[in-house]
Parts: sequence; structure tokens; C-alpha cells
Amino acid sequence: VSLQALPDDLETPCVVVDRATMDANIERLQSALDARGIRNRPHAKTHKSVRIGRLQVDAGAAGLTVGTLGEAEVFAAGGITDLFIAYPLWFSGSKGERLRALTEVADLRVGVDSVEGATTLAAAVKGVARPPRALVEVDSGGHRTGVEDPALVVEIARAVSNAGLEVEGVFTHGGHAYALGAAEAAAADETTALAQAAEALRRAGFEPRTISSGTTPTRLLAGTPVNEVRAGTYVFGDRQQVSLGAAAEDEVALVVAATVVSVHLGRFVIDAGAKSLTKDRPEHLAGYGLMPAYPDVVIDRLSDYHGTCVVPNGGPAPRLGEVVAIVPNHVCPVVDLFDELTVVSAGGGTERWPVDARGRSR
Ligand SMILES: Cc1ncc(COP(=O)(O)O)c(C=O)c1O
Repeated sequence: VSLQALPDDLETPCVVVDRATMDANIERLQSALDARGIRNRPHAKTHKSVRIGRLQVDAGAAGLTVGTLGEAEVFAAGGITDLFIAYPLWFSGSKGERLRALTEVADLRVGVDSVEGATTLAAAVKGVARPPRALVEVDSGGHRTGVEDPALVVEIARAVSNAGLEVEGVFTHGGHAYALGAAEAAAADETTALAQAAEALRRAGFEPRTISSGTTPTRLLAGTPVNEVRAGTYVFGDRQQVSLGAAAEDEVALVVAATVVSVHLGRFVIDAGAKSLTKDRPEHLAGYGLMPAYPDVVIDRLSDYHGTCVVPNGGPAPRLGEVVAIVPNHVCPVVDLFDELTVVSAGGGTERWPVDARGRSR
């Protein structure tokens, strides 16, 4: 991790981003997907930053993926207007009104996974000049949203079309890639489910232009006919991605900086608790983050503002007042807890970038 040498004068807790590492992450995925002839549509929920979204688009991304209307509104207002809301949102009432308004400033694609969702979407945008195009979500094994049966994809596509909207294609998110050793099989599941769904659409007379898969662990493993990938977490990496082999240690571009505020026998406390690190902890990892400078330390317990750390067998530990870098377990919800990112350039200079879509969970 390149951020062990933190800048001086940080007011902790804060989030520090290494610009060179982040730029390299953006460039590496873009060129890998370019080489495979696959469009890159990164998920912006990880960084929630218009400036970082702009870096991704300038590097060659086709547009961005978002998870909420609020994120879409923020990125559209920031000038990034090619947006896919990869979520089966329920567009009734004021959400329908917000979607209508968004169609005036953005070129939208929207996920659907039910006939009712498709008709609700179509009703919300009836008569708009630039209606969103729909992508039908397929469940490839993550068992979250999406239909399991390719025949249902056709039924939903017909509902979309009968309601006057265009069917853009199909998408999936192989969330079951998030287990040790699971990425290759999950990527194969994503590709197979999408291939079956695309074929079913074709047989029913629809031409799926976009066939979209994506998680960070599977981002380089998509096969034909996938033509779009939507990784998000890759931009910063985190402890979970390193543990899964989906990012190298030196590809982690973000740490939480915290100060040691209390030291007692066998333990110490940092000023980063659940409201900085979140309680996200994959089963295969001990503690709520990794301190690269003190890799044996376990961040054992979190209260809102305290992180209680255990030092096994009297090993090395930071001193009172020391500022330590922590690689969070799961970076996406961590970023959402901070107003700004402290971005450190290769020359050591720092800038503060706003987390523009912070808190836009709806
Ligand atoms: C629908 C969808 N697409 C893409 C992604 C990006 O995946 P990752 O967080 O593994 O980069 C997510 C993440 O939750 C998602 O929900």
C-alpha cells in the first residue's frame, strides 16, 4: 500500500487517496477492457465523486453506472450524462417525477426485473422526449435481484416494449464472486446467464445491444457475448479485494487515517470507529480493517467513534498521538461517511475533493 507515509497535518479521521495509484487503477482496467473490445461502465457508488467519474470517462469509459436516482442526479448535474441505473427502482410518486426531470438532462438506461416494474417505469416517463432504455436483470447466482428463468426475461422485455419503451439489453451482477476462490465460477455464471438471456431475447425478436456484467472480482473474466463491464470497487481497492485476489496490495489507493487517542495494556484506541470504518467484515477476515504498518494489530471492536485495537503477543504498536493508515474492509460505504477525500498527488501535494453524491441513497 503506497499510503503508509501519510501527509502531515491531517485532521483525523479522514480518507486519503493516492492519486497515482487511483489513476493507474483507472487506466489498467480501461486498457484491459479496450483490448477485449468490451465497454467499460464503472459503478460510481464507490467514489461518489464527479471528478473521479470524469477521470474514468476521460480514460475511455462509455459512461457510468449508478445505484440510485440521487447518484444519477448528482453525476448528470456534474456533466456526466450517459448513466445506467443498474437497479430495479420503483418509480412511483415523486421518484417518477424525479426520473422524468432527469430524462431532460441525461441519457438514461434503467434496470428492470419484473413486468410490474417495467409498466411502472413506462408510466412514469410517458411522453418524455428522451425516454430511458431498459435492461432486464438476470440472476446469475448472486440471488439478489434479477430473474432466474430466461423465459421471464422475454416476458419482461415484451412488457417494456408494449409499454412503449426500448429494450436495450440484459445485465447481471454476480455477487456470489465475493467468497474465497469464487471469482472464476461466478464470472462463468455471469457469462452463461447473460448468453442464455440474450439468446432468448433474440429468439423473441429483440436485439440485445448491451450485455452487461460486473463485479470487481470478475471484471477481467467476462466471456462472449458480454460487451459491457461495470466494476466499481476496483478504483480504490480495499482489504476484501486484496484478500480475494481481486486487487494487489500496491493497487489499494485509499486509506482511512486515524489517530491513536488512548493506550492501555495490550490494546489501544483510534479515533476511527463504526462511523469511519463501518462494521462491514467478511467472514474470512479478522477485525475491521488492516493497518499496513502494524499488520498484526487487530481492529477488534468498534463503537461509533472508537476503534479498539488488540496487539497480539506484545508485538509492535503505534504510540499515543501517532497517525495510522487503515485499509478498510469494504471501501464503498466508508467513502459515503465522509464529506471529502484528501487526494495526495505524486509530488506529495494534497487537494480536497468533495464526495458529491454522499448520502444520496435514494
Ligand atoms: C448492479 C451492480 N453492478 C456493478 C457493481 C460493482 O461491483 P463491485 O462493487 O464488485 O465493483 C455493483 C456493486 O454492488 C452492483 O450492485
